[in-house]
Amino acid sequence: MEKEPTIIPDELLKTEMDFNSSAPTAIQGYKRRILTGMRPSGDLHLGHYAGALRNWLEMQERFDCTFLIADLHAFADNNDKPEYVRACVGQVALDWLSAGLDPEETHFTVQTGVPELENLTVLFETLVPLSVLQRNPTLKNELQNMRETQKTVSFHNYPVSEAADILGPLGDLVPAGDDQRPMIELTRNVARKVNDQFLADRQFKLPIPQIYTGSFGRIRGTDGNAKMGKSLGNVVNLNSSSRELKKRVNAIASPVKRLEEPGVVEGHLVLEYLDAFHRNPDEVAQFKEDYRKGGLGEGHLKASLYKELDDLLEPMREKRLQFARDPDFVRDVLRDGTNHTRQRVKMTLDQIRDAMGFNF
Ligand code: TRP
Repeated sequence: MEKEPTIIPDELLKTEMDFNSSAPTAIQGYKRRILTGMRPSGDLHLGHYAGALRNWLEMQERFDCTFLIADLHAFADNNDKPEYVRACVGQVALDWLSAGLDPEETHFTVQTGVPELENLTVLFETLVPLSVLQRNPTLKNELQNMRETQKTVSFHNYPVSEAADILGPLGDLVPAGDDQRPMIELTRNVARKVNDQFLADRQFKLPIPQIYTGSFGRIRGTDGNAKMGKSLGNVVNLNSSSRELKKRVNAIASPVKRLEEPGVVEGHLVLEYLDAFHRNPDEVAQFKEDYRKGGLGEGHLKASLYKELDDLLEPMREKRLQFARDPDFVRDVLRDGTNHTRQRVKMTLDQIRDAMGFNF
């Protein structure tokens, strides 16, 4: 049996929104607006695929999707490496295209290509108490691992900028990891505040966006660390060659035991990966049963995982080569998507500036 695609819960498909249905975007046949983003910080890996791209691929067919490459957020702690940040934007675009995101369906948006987002951020800053940022658990965590020179004002402020990213294009559904929950909570509070304080007597309202964490969570790194991350050196990149992939799969932490000894399934990393990536869940169930009894070796599990992942990555490798040969096309995809989003954000910004009385 083929693995079912992730099923998007019905309640997310409903077209009603939390905001006034006469808002400019709420036209007949309204599709929910997805807005989500990634900070460009190098090649994308399986963690991005399982936690984000796989959901996005499904969403792009049903929703109006805007996917943001958050280069300003990357710049906020990498301002000493502007060429690197710029190159990463291109890498992310290539990875997205190779994974199957379709620029005809979705708007690929470069954050700094929409300077109106920065305007909106400044307006939102006037509404958010500093203590809210100081208490943000995700931010607190990230700051712990940073050098002093990286802890810029802009970095501390990225949750507010994220609220602008979401509300500027009127996103109402945000697929994102659980770590982004505090950001979405902040976004909802900003939207409510703007609606109540400035837009109460206007037709135009901001959506109150929902987070959607999806049915696939985070996958662990190849070393067993709770997070797969480039700086942790425990990733499997989406652009790995077959050879690199084999090496990475063989390097996945697994228990040392004699073949015939019964094994422990719980917490077994290779089995976790098989759960996340094997197309046939029945086969994985069988693996688990056999592994528990003893007689099924790590080599067998890894060979199966390698095969599944190689089949997943092979079409991406081909597409990547094809797109890499056509940088003009990739640039146009980013320009077109960014311009489209820019029009939307301009409209939102105009409305909010006007409502705040900044219309001289
Ligand atoms: N901050 C997010 C991250 O680090 C990326 C991001 C930027 C984002 N803007 C966003 C995510 C808007 C969701 C919505 O992953």
